[in-house]
Amino acid sequence: MFVMSIWCSSLSLSSRSLAIALVVCITLVYFSYSFNACLLASISRSLQQSNLRNLLALTSTARNESSEAGNSSSSTNTSSTNASSSVSTSAPPAQAVTSSLDGAPKYQLLRQQGLRPSRHLPDTLIIGVKKSGTRALLEFIRLHPDVRAAGSEVHFFDRHYQRGLRWYRHHMPYTIEGQITMEKTPSYFVTKEVPQRVYHMNPATKLLIVVRDPVTRAISDYTQAASKKADMKRFEQLAFINGSYSVVDTNWGPVKIGVYARYLERWLLCFPLSQLLFISGERLIMDPAYEIGRVQDFLGLKRVVTEKHFYFNATKGFPCLFKSEARSTPHCLGKTKGRNHPHIDPAAIERLREFYRPFNNKFYQLTGINFAWP
Ligand code: A3P
Repeated sequence: MFVMSIWCSSLSLSSRSLAIALVVCITLVYFSYSFNACLLASISRSLQQSNLRNLLALTSTARNESSEAGNSSSSTNTSSTNASSSVSTSAPPAQAVTSSLDGAPKYQLLRQQGLRPSRHLPDTLIIGVKKSGTRALLEFIRLHPDVRAAGSEVHFFDRHYQRGLRWYRHHMPYTIEGQITMEKTPSYFVTKEVPQRVYHMNPATKLLIVVRDPVTRAISDYTQAASKKADMKRFEQLAFINGSYSVVDTNWGPVKIGVYARYLERWLLCFPLSQLLFISGERLIMDPAYEIGRVQDFLGLKRVVTEKHFYFNATKGFPCLFKSEARSTPHCLGKTKGRNHPHIDPAAIERLREFYRPFNNKFYQLTGINFAWP
């Protein structure tokens, strides 16, 4: 009887520990299953996100290329202040391209995944200055996966303002959450009404301004105009009044635009200096990665675009890209960027330098940056 009771109690003891072991096992299996499920879900989410970015990059490239081509023809017709674009394939107008893309299979696919790319008004504008390297800046910064840009100059704030913000938004690329929408129109910097209009759209808009020695900029501007007009007078004849180098023609566009301080003062009436980033056009050529690094910091972006993206093309004399959103092979900006400048009388150049000096100093004062132009 005694042996029997010991045997029974040891049996009940071992079945209890068995039950405990079983519960522990089930709990462990349950936790490891939930952990794995979470892990798999998060991997699949990030894969989806990166696929989506790739899809957007492809689609936006297609749209930007088409829209840039459309705009480049219109810009040559309409403006002397508009920098020419480097892509020139024939394409339907931007409006038509946009609506055909809305129903494109890529967008349907994104919608099926519950992701809704949409167009937004720009958070950031490249407002100028014409012929200082604005196209290079745009092409370089849009290498960043979190930057989507309108490929062409939209000219909303200076030419199409009456069309309204809906029209403007429609010209922006599709973005997903976390991506920055950008547009560049260099004439914004010098057009009187633009600062107030941009402020009205969004007082938090970030503004990027590329600046370059105003004398070289004027010559670049002249070179572009001369490339479109066969019988253009010499630079020296246009930059000065009365046939001597004593009086500078401050009404001549290429000279006038270089008085940066005058235009900047208008912008500073609407925006604090902290919302503006000045990029040196000279440094953008000598050390593009450095300047693009500053731009990424200013926009709160991770430094993804680095020196690895650039190489120096000795024939062209400018930095070029190993690959971009539009092309996977090494390439430079178009042939309208980095033109050979005509020979200008050194005495005329010296006189212009003298003319700009006080305005440059004022500009250094306003920006707090000494660009050290000669
Ligand atoms: P030039 O063609 O007179 O040399 P924008 O794009 O604002 O019109 O400016 C054009 C200028 O950008 C060019 O003027 C050139 O000096 C400058 N630039 C800066 N980086 C460049 C690059 N990587 N390739 C070509 N031009 C570049």
